[in-house]
Formats: sequence, C-alpha cells, structure tokens
Amino acid sequence: MMDFQLTEEQLGVQDAARTFAEKELLPGVVERDRLMQYPTQEVKKMGEMGFLGMMTSPEYGGGGMDTLSYVLAMEEISKVDAVAGVIMSVNNSLVCWGLEAFGTEAQKEKYLTSLAAGKFVGSFCLSEPEAGSDATSQRTVAIDHGDYYLLNGTKNWITNGATSGLHLVIAQSHAEKAHHGINCFIVEPSWPGVSIGPKEDKMGIRASDTTTISYLDVKVPKENRIGDDGFGFKFAMKTLSGGRIGIAAQALGIAEGAYQLALKYANERETFGKPIAKYQAISFKLAQMATDIEAARLLVRRAAILKDQHLDYDMAGSMAKLFAADMAMRHTTEAVQIHGGYGYVREYQVERMMRDAKITQIYEGTSEIQKLVISRNILKGILYGPPIV
Ligand code: CAA
Repeated sequence: MMDFQLTEEQLGVQDAARTFAEKELLPGVVERDRLMQYPTQEVKKMGEMGFLGMMTSPEYGGGGMDTLSYVLAMEEISKVDAVAGVIMSVNNSLVCWGLEAFGTEAQKEKYLTSLAAGKFVGSFCLSEPEAGSDATSQRTVAIDHGDYYLLNGTKNWITNGATSGLHLVIAQSHAEKAHHGINCFIVEPSWPGVSIGPKEDKMGIRASDTTTISYLDVKVPKENRIGDDGFGFKFAMKTLSGGRIGIAAQALGIAEGAYQLALKYANERETFGKPIAKYQAISFKLAQMATDIEAARLLVRRAAILKDQHLDYDMAGSMAKLFAADMAMRHTTEAVQIHGGYGYVREYQVERMMRDAKITQIYEGTSEIQKLVISRNILKGILYGPPIV
C-alpha cells in the first residue's frame, strides 16, 4: 500500500527546507552563478540544519529520516538553488548512504559521523575521461600491495571536487575479472599523490565545484576498501540507484521553480491590454507545466516510498529521473519563452534554471542510461515495478 499523505514530520521537513531556501539560498543565488562562487557559508548552514545527512542513522550523527523526507527537502532546495541541491544530493545519497549501507563500523565511525554532520562533504569518484556511461571500463587502477593498495588514475567531472573532505574512488584491481575486479576506496584528499584540477567552467550549476582529480601512486590503507574484494561495481550501481531518486527530485525542484516564476510573470505582464496569462498561448503552456510537474512529483515520491519499504526501486528511480530531467529541460525552456526577452536576462532567473536543468539529463546516468535500465527491467518481465496501490 502506497500512501502519498505526508506525515506531520514530513511536512515539517518540507517547511524547514522551503524557509531555509528562501532565507539563506535565494539572496545570493544569481551572483554565485555569475561568479562561479561555491556556496561555502550556505553549505555550512545546511550541515547545521541537518540537510547533509538526512537519511543517516542518528547513531552516526544523521537525521534518521526516510527517503520521502529527503526528496521533499531536495525539491524545496533545488526550486531555489540547484547547486545546493547537487551538493546535498551527492553527500546524502551517494556518500553517506553508500558508507552506511556497506562500510565497516570503523569506517562509519571515522568518516560517516563527520559527513552526516556536514563537517565536510564527500565526492563520488566514478566517471573517467573514457568511462562515463560505460562505467565498467575503469582505467583507474588500485593494485594490492599487502597492507595497502596503490591507486593510479584520473577521475572527471567530480562534484564537490575541490571542497570535499573525502573521496569514494572506484578503481580496477583485477583487470582480468572485468567489473567483478572493481573496488571502491575511501581516499582522503590530503594524502600524497592526490591532485585536484581547476574548477570546470560549466553551462549550469556553475557555483558548484566540478573538477578533475588525479591519483598518482596514492597509498590507500587496506581498511579503506569498502566491502569484499571486487564489490566496487555493485557498490556503485546500488548507490547510484538511490542517487537517481535524489537527482529526480532536484530536476523536479528546478522545473517547479521555473514554473512558479513563469506563472507570476504571466499574471503581471500585460500585452494588448490584458495579462499574458489570459491568452491560451500562455495558459496552455502553464497547464502543461503544472500537469507534468505533478506527474514527476508522483514518480519521485513513488520511488522514494519503494526505497523506504525496502522494495525494488531501481526501475522506479530511473523512471523518475528520466521523466523529471526531460520535463525540467522542456519546461524551463518554456519558462524562458513565457518571459520573452526578460527570460534571457540573468536577473529573472529562468535562464539559469534552464542551464541548470540540462545537467539533470546527464549526471548520475544520462536519460539514455535510464532508458537502458528501464528497458532491461521490462525485458526481464518486470512491467511496471512493484504496485503503487
Ligand atoms: N544494483 C545492483 N547491481 C547492479 C545494478 C544495480 N542497480 N545494476 C547493475 N548491477 C550489476 C549487475 O547485476 C551485474 O552484475 P553480475 O555481472 O554479477 O551479474 C553488473 O552490475 C554489471 O551489470 P550490467 O551487465 O548491466 O552492466 P553494463 O555495463 O551493461 O551496464 C550500466 C551498466 C547500467 C550502463 C552502468 O554502467 C551505469 O549505470 N552507467 C552510468 C554510470 C553513471 O550513472 N555515472 C554517474 C556518475 S556519478 C555522478 O554523476 C555523481 C555526481 O557527481 C553528480
């Protein structure tokens, strides 16, 4: 039974995130995008508010909340600032969740408590110059030297690359075993041999720090490997399945932010003697946006609830991400169109949202990768995933 009714606690989380976004994120969001300025103070406050370790158990300093609460917060925060959204998403879904689900007790005590409290954020280092969608083709290697692994390779497009205090690095340890030879390691950026490249000058989410990271003969203690030898690819896939729900919520938030601005503008802007919202050319666009946003919201919440109920959520998460990301791209473009010339100007924000929306079709698996995951599930005979009612 899937209940979309929000509890008092979930409504409280939603409200806290909305207030935080409006008070703390909105004032500088245009300027940070323009200057490519990482939201240092804002991320610190997010940590203090508990937004960086929402689903982590209280015993490791987290909020102990469900996935539904997390996507509610992601939606509110991304509505205003998609950069805060991605920082939050990577830390919560990929780094904290991955460590709690598969890390050892010692790893959790040493690293998870700080991550969940927002003392520092983490990075998820899977993508490489030649291994983006084809994540099994890892060129980064980690060779067993007894007490430690020797790590060599380069990672690309790493979110939180310059600011993170911990890297989860995926690397090949036994090339002959293909993806069964891959491992994931906890790496500290201060270790000798780790070098962080310059910040990428990106189309969107410009204030987030996305960098290349290189590892040259980095000695990684054996106790920093996550799971059994060869578990790394499964670790990455399982972690990304949950991550996709977070990014779907980010895309939903971006679309909603653009829709709200477009609605407001359409009611205020007059042409030929009446507000443009009164013309069907505009009101039909708004009707389509509102409907698609609602559909995305249902898919996002459905995936979150399946995860909370410990049911299979791989396909549901991919469906949510595919639909929400494509919808966000389409409707942020419509929001710019509704604004006309003003939409092309930074101050009106919708052009930023349109640029930010694009990345949701690319990271944590492109829209094409989501279709691959969905179609493979369909071909296995899973038509719609677990029931929704
Ligand atoms: N859960 C558990 N195991 C899974 C899984 C899942 N969701 N998906 C696949 N696997 C397992 C399979 O069972 C299989 O294991 P066995 O061989 O033991 O049976 C193994 O993984 C290989 O699976 P496939 O044969 O399906 O592998 P593939 O290479 O054909 O395809 C893929 C896999 C889905 C395309 C995968 O490579 C993929 O997801 N690619 C996209 C990578 C991605 O999302 N990158 C995002 C980078 S991180 C990021 O963006 C974060 C950020 O900074 C914002």
